[in-house]
Amino acid sequence: MTNTKLQLWVYSVIFLVLIVLSIVLLTPAVTAATPSQNEGRLLASNCFGCHGTNGRPAGGFDRLAGESVSEIIEEMREMRNEDKGIMSKHALGYTDEQVRLLAVWFSNQ
Ligand code: HEC
Repeated sequence: MTNTKLQLWVYSVIFLVLIVLSIVLLTPAVTAATPSQNEGRLLASNCFGCHGTNGRPAGGFDRLAGESVSEIIEEMREMRNEDKGIMSKHALGYTDEQVRLLAVWFSNQ
């Protein structure tokens, strides 16, 4: 190979590597959920045991999926202030901001 051909070959390889790297690095950024959605789901997963995966219970417990944000926030506030058994313990474990995040998440299910 002549010097110019070798240079051309090296530049082509560098160019291809850069293209592949930018595809690999940029794709997850476009498809990933926003941080607050991720946090909402993480917080909400504590509730799946009783209220069903994604807030859709198999039976017995209240459905949270699709309930309005304000309703969930209001009910969580009531649970905090009155002794409603196990739910009050759960409601007391979250800050207002965390309740808002999980309410938004359940509401969007
Ligand atoms: C150990 C079981 C259990 C877990 C875990 C649990 N809950 Fe509950 N939840 C209940 C029970 C039981 C009730 C009914 C309480 C009542 O009405 O007195 C309830 C009721 C509710 C209600 C009122 C529903 C309605 O339509 O009246 C909301 C809102 C709620 N839970 C939200 C949550 C959230 C948010 C979480 C997770 C942070 C959670 N729960 C975790 C058992 C649970």
